[in-house]
Amino acid sequence: MAEDVFKKIVSHCKEYGFVFPSSDIYDGLGAVYDYGQNGVELKNNIKQYWWQSMVLLHDNIVGLDSAVFMHPTIWKASGHVDAFNDPLIDNRDSKKRYRADVLIEDQLAKYDEKIQKEVAKARKRFGASFDEAMFVQTNPRVLENAKKRDALHTRFKTALDANDLAEIRQIILDEGIVCPISGTRNWTDVRQFNLMFKTEVGSTADGASTIYLRPETAQGIFVNYLNVQKTGRMKVPFGIAQIGKAFRNEIVARQFIFRMREFEQMEMQYFVRPGSELEWFTKWKEQRMAWHQALGFGSENYRFHDHDKLAHYANAATDIEFRMPFGFKEVEGIHSRTDFDLSQHEKFSGKSIKYFDPETNESYTPYVIETSIGVDRMFLSVMCHAYTEETLEGGDTRTVLRLPAALAPTKLAILPLVRKDGLPEKAREIQQQLKFHFNCKYEEKDTIGKRYRRQDAIGTPYCITVDHDTLADNTVTLRDRDTMEQQRVPVEQLQSLLEDKVSITALLKKLA
Ligand code: GAP
Repeated sequence: MAEDVFKKIVSHCKEYGFVFPSSDIYDGLGAVYDYGQNGVELKNNIKQYWWQSMVLLHDNIVGLDSAVFMHPTIWKASGHVDAFNDPLIDNRDSKKRYRADVLIEDQLAKYDEKIQKEVAKARKRFGASFDEAMFVQTNPRVLENAKKRDALHTRFKTALDANDLAEIRQIILDEGIVCPISGTRNWTDVRQFNLMFKTEVGSTADGASTIYLRPETAQGIFVNYLNVQKTGRMKVPFGIAQIGKAFRNEIVARQFIFRMREFEQMEMQYFVRPGSELEWFTKWKEQRMAWHQALGFGSENYRFHDHDKLAHYANAATDIEFRMPFGFKEVEGIHSRTDFDLSQHEKFSGKSIKYFDPETNESYTPYVIETSIGVDRMFLSVMCHAYTEETLEGGDTRTVLRLPAALAPTKLAILPLVRKDGLPEKAREIQQQLKFHFNCKYEEKDTIGKRYRRQDAIGTPYCITVDHDTLADNTVTLRDRDTMEQQRVPVEQLQSLLEDKVSITALLKKLA
């Protein structure tokens, strides 16, 4: 059921110009996508909402746009050359490659599904008198599956912590996990596979050197932090925000734009005094959750997932997860990264990048809180929440994208009722006035009902209809996407009436 909804969202994205498979006429390129005429507007609005919430609302956060190509030693210092790996396994019969950890995670999910099935069956059988808590504590089949799941989880975690690839393979064999294509258990050994894309700069004659496409934007911030601090005369605590492309050679690319090989990140590194980092971590957790919830998608659709196992450089980490049709999934990570990255760059570059604190008269390496969100995952969560199929009074159906007005690609559709009697000219005149204030679209083809439906499907919050009365009294019919209610409004009031409702400013004010 949820899978069907997700399939519909994916085809809606294509049909209405939000997201196309990359290189579509060549049958696509795995895990790479292009944003169409509506997608790019929605994506830009998400980025603007994030950027302004960081850079406009905080005196002490400034922006940066660093290059995708960076000195290769940066990735040695950051640990990406040695440790940015996924454990992979091949099936010899199908010749297909899988992430070994994902095969095991899927197996863990199967035990949970079995438990859920038992619960659903019992609920049906016992009806109103069903006590779920009692059932899961006592039903032998539920208990057996929970025991297997917990044992697998412990064994898997131990193997991962110890980076024991042979044990990970053994788990796959012991659990009887088969290749979904060939159905066999003819697995190779598990190997680590680095996710960074490599390329070369310079001609071979000059001695080309291998460089990487950045797998995260954060390192561009770390290596520039002192440039920004000095030229911007920033005082700790301060932040640097950046939006940009990142590249990862993801092997298991699933769920549309959830896991891509080329994607975009919005990252902010907040530089703080050593010792104050956990306090800032808590503050940023709250601020980032408030940013998500200001969109009005309902607090029940978000949760924090605090990490039990921390990366060696972190002393706290959490994910903000959103309820997608395929379950709660990570959209953003918030990490307390200590002074690991800056210290590593100091060591590998041989340059001192310490901060002199004029208040304490000390030099130190700042600690860093990072907030890191994927633009594409955010886009997907917005689309998943907005996509709605409705049955109207009278039995008609409509598909409507209930996008927050501030994120909608088009804010106002301007529709002449008929294509004659001077109505198109009047509608164009209104468009000329309003286009400087927000994204307006003019449409005259098809019946007014069909045009409303098309605008609903791309999430346009408001439509105005220009009719014969408009010529007489300069008023139009303003239609609300969600309620479908219509009201008569003087043309000269449109700008002031709508501007507040559709602007990013309205969202930002909720954060203040
Ligand atoms: N600098 C920290 C960092 O990159 P991450 O958890 O690897 O942390 C941060 O990535 C965010 O980037 C994720 O929460 C997710 O939204 C997004 N992201 C990561 N890999 C992605 C991929 N392959 N496709 C789309 N988004 C991705």
